[in-house]
Amino acid sequence: MDLLLIILRLVHIFGAIYWAGTAFFLMFVFSPTVAKATEPERAILGKITANPMMVTSIAAAGGLTVLAGLILYFRYWLNSPDAMTSNAVKVFGIGGLAGIIALVIGGAFVGRLTKKLGELGHQAASAGGPPSAELRSQIGATMASLQQWSKINFVFIVIAVFCMAIARHVG
Ligand code: HEM
Repeated sequence: MDLLLIILRLVHIFGAIYWAGTAFFLMFVFSPTVAKATEPERAILGKITANPMMVTSIAAAGGLTVLAGLILYFRYWLNSPDAMTSNAVKVFGIGGLAGIIALVIGGAFVGRLTKKLGELGHQAASAGGPPSAELRSQIGATMASLQQWSKINFVFIVIAVFCMAIARHVG
C-alpha cells in the first residue's frame, strides 16, 4: 500500500472538489443572484463575500490542490521518467498548468477584488444612509472587474477538471 500516494490523492481531490465546486457555485448561482438583487438585498449578499472565510478557504483549497498535484506529477518523473512521455502524463501536465494559472488569477485578481468589494460593501453599510454616487460607482466598477476575472479563472478551472478527468484514458 502506497500511503503517501493515498494521502496526496485525498488532499488533491478533496481540495479540487472544494475549489472547483465553489467556482461553479459562484459562477452559476451566486453572481446571477447578485446581478438581479436590489440594493438592500446586495448588502445582505455582500456579507457572504465579506466573510474572510470565503477568500481564505478557497485560496487554501486551491493552494493544497496545486501543491499535492505538483508532488503527484513529479512522483511520475522520479519513479519512472519514461512515464513523462505518455499521453496520460502529458494531459495531467496540461491540466496542471491550467490549474496553476487559475490559482495565480484567483490570488492576484479574484481574491483581491472580492476583498475590496467586501470593504466597499462595509463602507456602504456603515455610511448610515444611501451610499454616495462615488462609492456606488466604485462598487459597480469592482463588481464588473470581478465578474470578468472570475469568468477567465473559471475557464482555466474547467480546462483543469476536463484534463484531470480524461488523462488516464487517453493512452
Ligand atoms: C483545478 C485544478 C485541479 C483539479 C480539479 C484536479 C483534479 C484531479 C482529479 C479529480 C484527479 C484524479 C484523476 C484520476 O486519478 O484519474 C487528479 C489527478 C492528478 N492530478 Fe489533478 N487536479 C487539479 C490540478 C492539478 C495540478 C495543478 C497538478 C500539477 C501538475 C495536478 C496533477 C495531477 C496528477 C499528476 C494526478 C494523477 C495522480 C495519480 O497518479 O494518481 N492536478 N486531479
